[in-house]
Amino acid sequence: MSRARIAVLVSGGGTNLQALIDAEKKGIIKSGKIELVISNKEGAYALERAQKADIETAVVSKKQLGSQSAFEAGIIKLLDEKKIDIIVLAGFMVILSEEFTKRYPERIINVHPSLIPSFCGEGFYGLRVHEAALSYGVKVTGATVHFVNEIPDGGRIIMQKAVSIREDDTPETLQKRVMRLAEWKILPASVEKVCAGLISK
Ligand code: GAR
Repeated sequence: MSRARIAVLVSGGGTNLQALIDAEKKGIIKSGKIELVISNKEGAYALERAQKADIETAVVSKKQLGSQSAFEAGIIKLLDEKKIDIIVLAGFMVILSEEFTKRYPERIINVHPSLIPSFCGEGFYGLRVHEAALSYGVKVTGATVHFVNEIPDGGRIIMQKAVSIREDDTPETLQKRVMRLAEWKILPASVEKVCAGLISK
């Protein structure tokens, strides 16, 4: 294998996807190539970002397919067709079943906007994570990139980066700073690390 084939799963704005696209262009990600972007939401801005970068896109909607198993079967079909090696969850707001995660052991990577094991697991996603960190009163938060297993946010940690909380932070200002200082750096770095490990096997 010369480069690992990457699929990125998204639900929203896709700034982490953008960080991956930019890192590939800059050669920070050199052991893998983004071959496919799948969104569970039609109209997600992340899809436009992928199209602008000439990456194939697809929408797989759980609402339209009616069940989690049909939704996951739709994703698996696309991953098989494109012979995907590594799946990156970049702001993907759906919890995947054990059946799905067991199919790809240490092949699914997620970015989470806190220092796991704080503020993670079911119900902790997006802005809610930062709201929880601020209301708890922690002085340091950050981001974590980890492998995905059957426990939500429970897989082996690949990288973490800490970010200080400011007195005047709101969930929105904190979210932006955690993205800029942590997520957009450690996600591409982790993807390169995992892809490099895979192609050297
Ligand atoms: C990011 O902060 C990501 O860490 C978080 O959602 C945001 C998506 O932003 N993911 C989770 O909370 C997953 N549990 P993006 O669409 O701009 O990358």
